[in-house]
Amino acid sequence: MKKIGILRGMETTFPEALIDRINSLNTEATAEFIQVGGIKMDELYAYDVILDRISQDIPFYRAMLKNASLSGVHVINNPFWWSADDKFFGYSLAKKLGVPVPKTVLLPHKDHPPDTNSNSMRNLIFPLNWQEIFDYIGFPAFMKPHSGGGWKDVYKVNDPGELFSSYGKTHTLCMTLQEEIDFTHYYRCYCIGKKYIRIMEYAPKQPHHLRYVQNPDPIPPALESEIKQHCLTLCNALGYDFNTLEFAVRDGIPYAIDFTNPSPDADLNSVGLENFTWVVETAAEFLIDRALNYETTLKNYNSGEFAEGKIVKRKTPPAKKK
Ligand SMILES: Nc1ncnc2c1ncn2[C@@H]1O[C@H](COP(=O)(O)OP(=O)(O)O)[C@@H](O)[C@H]1O
Ligand SMILES: [Mg+2]
Repeated sequence: MKKIGILRGMETTFPEALIDRINSLNTEATAEFIQVGGIKMDELYAYDVILDRISQDIPFYRAMLKNASLSGVHVINNPFWWSADDKFFGYSLAKKLGVPVPKTVLLPHKDHPPDTNSNSMRNLIFPLNWQEIFDYIGFPAFMKPHSGGGWKDVYKVNDPGELFSSYGKTHTLCMTLQEEIDFTHYYRCYCIGKKYIRIMEYAPKQPHHLRYVQNPDPIPPALESEIKQHCLTLCNALGYDFNTLEFAVRDGIPYAIDFTNPSPDADLNSVGLENFTWVVETAAEFLIDRALNYETTLKNYNSGEFAEGKIVKRKTPPAKKK
């Protein structure tokens, strides 16, 4: 028998339903919640596959999962890569791969990070050339953490005054400033196993419980296949097997807004019954397949095309204008 372990945080609907679904299929794989205490080095784990839903909030779990990888457990999503990526890197990667993204600039921290002072910042231009940044991004714009989630510290700013006022509240966070995509439609997509995709119409300006649009209008087929292709391109590049990707559509073009979500919301109460059933059934099928059919060694550990060195070629930067 192969064993699938589920690591979860506060969520209650998805993990239980997933375990019930896997066990009800009576395959050669069973699922259960992981139970652990203090972790010994190079410990052997009883699981073939672990689905990680919470290590982003609990460093102990992240360290445990890296250690589990050493014993050959296939951890979804890859804890090494998950520790390394960030939104700004994602936007640049998407641009390189031809996936449309809003123009985005990475901003230095507003306040000095802990245990640093102005001497630590001597490589930084000060003051920044804000006008050049504003000319590139335009207004309105979104300012959001370079690595974040759950809409935390996301600000819409309409002019330089609003920008400076919001920037002042970000303290030691590392922020990005991004062109607003004034969208006609917004889609949130599950992508599981770099194969199974579900596109959900999403209304981000609605209150939480109304955001997943129930009975949406059908998505035009050309747009649907374009979004699916972008989902595959990004998940293959990043190596994520369980992810959600968000696209804002402007003038018929889907711009990737938020696509590094390795522990995506799958709660029945937010995604609704149809999406929930899909994500439970699809995740169960995928995890069983991984447990039964993959050799779980670090050698075939799923790092994605970027980490495998398949994407980047060195280019000479343009000469600086005098
Ligand atoms: N460039 C943008 N254009 C339009 N809306 C945006 C843009 N960036 C973010 N938003 C809005 O802000 C929300 C939160 O931003 P997002 O990048 O998804 O951060 P998080 O990872 O915190 O969910 C998005 O769902 C979207 O509604
Ligand atoms: Mg988001």
